[in-house]
Amino acid sequence: MKNASQLILPAKDVRGSVNLPGDKSISHRYAMLAAIAQGPSRLSNYSTGADCASTLGCLSSLGVKWERKDVLSNAIEVQGTDLTLTAPTEPLDCGNSGSTIRMLSGILAGQKFVSEMSGDESLARRPMERVIKPLTAMGANIESHDGRLPLHIKGGNLKAIDYEMPVASAQVKTCLLFAGLQAEGETHIVETLRTRDHGEVALRAFGADVDSQLLDRKWNEVRIRGGQRLRGIEATVPGDISSAAFFLCAAALFPGSQLTLPNLLMNPTRASLLDVLMQVGLEISVTRLQDIHGELVGSIQAQGRRLKGIRISGQTSAALIDEIPVLAAIAPYTEGGIEVHDAKELRVKESDRIASIAINLRAMGAQVEEREDGLSIPGGQELHGAELQSFGDHRIAMAFSVAALRAKGETLIHGSECAAISYPEFFSRLETLVKR
Ligand code: S3P
Repeated sequence: MKNASQLILPAKDVRGSVNLPGDKSISHRYAMLAAIAQGPSRLSNYSTGADCASTLGCLSSLGVKWERKDVLSNAIEVQGTDLTLTAPTEPLDCGNSGSTIRMLSGILAGQKFVSEMSGDESLARRPMERVIKPLTAMGANIESHDGRLPLHIKGGNLKAIDYEMPVASAQVKTCLLFAGLQAEGETHIVETLRTRDHGEVALRAFGADVDSQLLDRKWNEVRIRGGQRLRGIEATVPGDISSAAFFLCAAALFPGSQLTLPNLLMNPTRASLLDVLMQVGLEISVTRLQDIHGELVGSIQAQGRRLKGIRISGQTSAALIDEIPVLAAIAPYTEGGIEVHDAKELRVKESDRIASIAINLRAMGAQVEEREDGLSIPGGQELHGAELQSFGDHRIAMAFSVAALRAKGETLIHGSECAAISYPEFFSRLETLVKR
């Protein structure tokens, strides 16, 4: 990607409608499951982001045939291999994508060949021990550079395990479900903080039996039997709610704003953002709710009101992990400020997001208190435009383009090209919504 700097001018209002590209989390899972299912799958509204292209690139290197079918609907057709991938002749390039490396490693752990997985500088800094440890307990042989890239995976016969996850991570849970599908016996995973359930939902859509049970508000148990076969599907990926977050927060900044987002993913394990924004003051109504392959999808109308403050912690922080950057970026404009606790995972994302947020907010003149597990950002602050860095992190680039809409003066975001990791069309869509 070529270095770019995006200029953002202050706005007076946000108004209009956006069709979101397919959800990134679901696109990855559908592509991987389509690749190991029997028969073809057709996936429409597949994410346009570079991360989901990294997944498709790795699948090609593993002998999976797929084709773009329709540019307008972003459809791809994937030919299933019925769990027989081919040994790659080159390292699998996961680019910037933690989802690709962590989830695909669960599939590769059960394949009888050696593969090497690598990625860019940011991915090379991210912890992989969280998948290496349980996959090794299942019988895979994995070498790494001290828990970091590259990973050398020698897959083979796997045994089911009982595993209580030490970190709340849906990527790890999905990785273990993909490995469990190929293992002898029943794999049992316990989460102490419930994470997004797209792995479970997608496996069921492709015909697998996956049991899950919420034991109380906190504990969640998931079980999968090995040896099940999957069948290809035809599906449209619902609009990405984590990308919608930027537009919803932009709308929240302007009392009287009007935003419509059709066909948006509303899976309850992803929709905490809507609850939080309603508590903060955005008026939201949902219509046309439907179930598509087990995923809840609806259309949203949002209207800006007064912005109050909020404290985010515990389960809510885990559920909102991708949306905290943009909530933090609008926090100074709220009346009561925003406090984020229990979000230490933000430090090991595409950048150290707690540090990236604090640096950029301070550059815009805001007061911020940074803690190991979060941030406290007082409300009632006026920000000024500034030169900001994306830190190579797509969600930081997009979050601060939203903050810049209410700042005094212009903002320049350096390294803004990384928005293409999840949403290449982001800046042009934002321009169609913003009124000056
Ligand atoms: C994802 C899970 C989260 C999230 C990431 C996508 C997924 O990561 O931050 O953007 O699709 O499962 P963790 O599993 O590391 O929490």
